[in-house]
Amino acid sequence: MANYIILGAQWGDEGKGKIVDLLASRADLVVRFQGGANAGHTVIVGDKKFVLHLIPGGIVSGKAVNVIGNGCVVDPITFKQEIEYLKKQGIDVTPDKLMISFQAHVVTPVHKYLDRVLNKKIGTTGRGIGPAYTDKIQRTGVRLEAIVNGTFLEHFKQQAKLYEQYAQNLYKEPFLNIEQAVEELKEAETYIRPFIGDTVELIHSYLNKKANILYEGAQGAMLDVDHGTYPFVTSSSTTIGGAFTGGGVFLEFDKRIGLVKAYATRVGEGPFPTELNDETGEKLREKGHEFGATTGRPRRCGWLDLKLVKRAQIINGFNYITLSKLSCLSGFETIKVAVDYDSAGQPVYRSFPGWEQKIEGVTEWQDLPQNAREYVRFIEDYLQTPIGLVSTGPDRNHVIYRQPLW
Ligand code: IMO
Ligand code: MG
Repeated sequence: MANYIILGAQWGDEGKGKIVDLLASRADLVVRFQGGANAGHTVIVGDKKFVLHLIPGGIVSGKAVNVIGNGCVVDPITFKQEIEYLKKQGIDVTPDKLMISFQAHVVTPVHKYLDRVLNKKIGTTGRGIGPAYTDKIQRTGVRLEAIVNGTFLEHFKQQAKLYEQYAQNLYKEPFLNIEQAVEELKEAETYIRPFIGDTVELIHSYLNKKANILYEGAQGAMLDVDHGTYPFVTSSSTTIGGAFTGGGVFLEFDKRIGLVKAYATRVGEGPFPTELNDETGEKLREKGHEFGATTGRPRRCGWLDLKLVKRAQIINGFNYITLSKLSCLSGFETIKVAVDYDSAGQPVYRSFPGWEQKIEGVTEWQDLPQNAREYVRFIEDYLQTPIGLVSTGPDRNHVIYRQPLW
């Protein structure tokens, strides 16, 4: 193994948690470089299931050191909750296993309030992501270094006072209880302080040691603030460029892994050309258990849109594709894939005969039904990139390797 990056190629929820977990057992360092607690990465090990939102997936295997890079936005209160959740699950997160960049921005309760009040149309996760990045770009944000030097709470009180006025005069929605928020933040501050450090130096030192480094993307290419379905996107760079600004260190990624789900889903509002608002969509949701890991919302479901995945491929330079949830497509008579759009902007489909057999847990390529193999080969040809791994179920071992992952 060497330097790896994994990136979602659709609207998120492509099964990142599982691939991170497979790789994290080999990685020395796992880096999150964008986003915050809006992610929902489900890692299943044996009969244990972990849902991570902010903390990198390398924490589960216990071997890797984990980084939350300068490009992330960090909510100290949800951070504390996530650490406590992991502790209950038997994972002790200590500062020698996790470092958060002092340059990352803080998500405050005011940001979460603003997310609720201002971003209804987008259907965000409500984690305060957009408002925190807005403050960052507007240069009115506050970074985790303020928690180290003791100026954070003062900043928060001023921010809260200002927005309390807006809340009364402009937004007309009840504001948060400032005193209560201060108390919560005080507690969270002491909790998070020992984890804050210089992650650029840390990543660089691992690079010098020629260690195995894994960059873990959150969300997907179509939620990228530049390349996604704007304005129905998240507020960070979810494509490969974000890894360089948000990790801060130049490195060459030997494997650039694109995560593709065998069909498409989206949570929240925004364009979704291949969406199925019918029984077939309902069936996909049921078979794929498509409910949001962060918000519990039912996900919108539809056919795979290869035209969009190709776009993600061009942007990210994927040289290895993983295809997830193929097993959820058993039992469809016909499976469709969008390969283009017509002049009216409607998807042009290519149809494939489906397969009846259950394929959950299959580990050999030859054991897949012929029709399933043809479906996979078509995607591979279209993308001109090898599908190295096919996931056939939630478990760590439910995998077909067509090319080694390391
Ligand atoms: P993972 O990492 C799926 C969606 C939200 C909303 C839009 C903006 O699990 O793939 P935000 O709260 O980020 O401002 O919301 O982006 N969204 C996700 N959808 N998976 C995610 O992460 C997502 N993170 C954000 O539903 O439409
Ligand atoms: Mg998710």
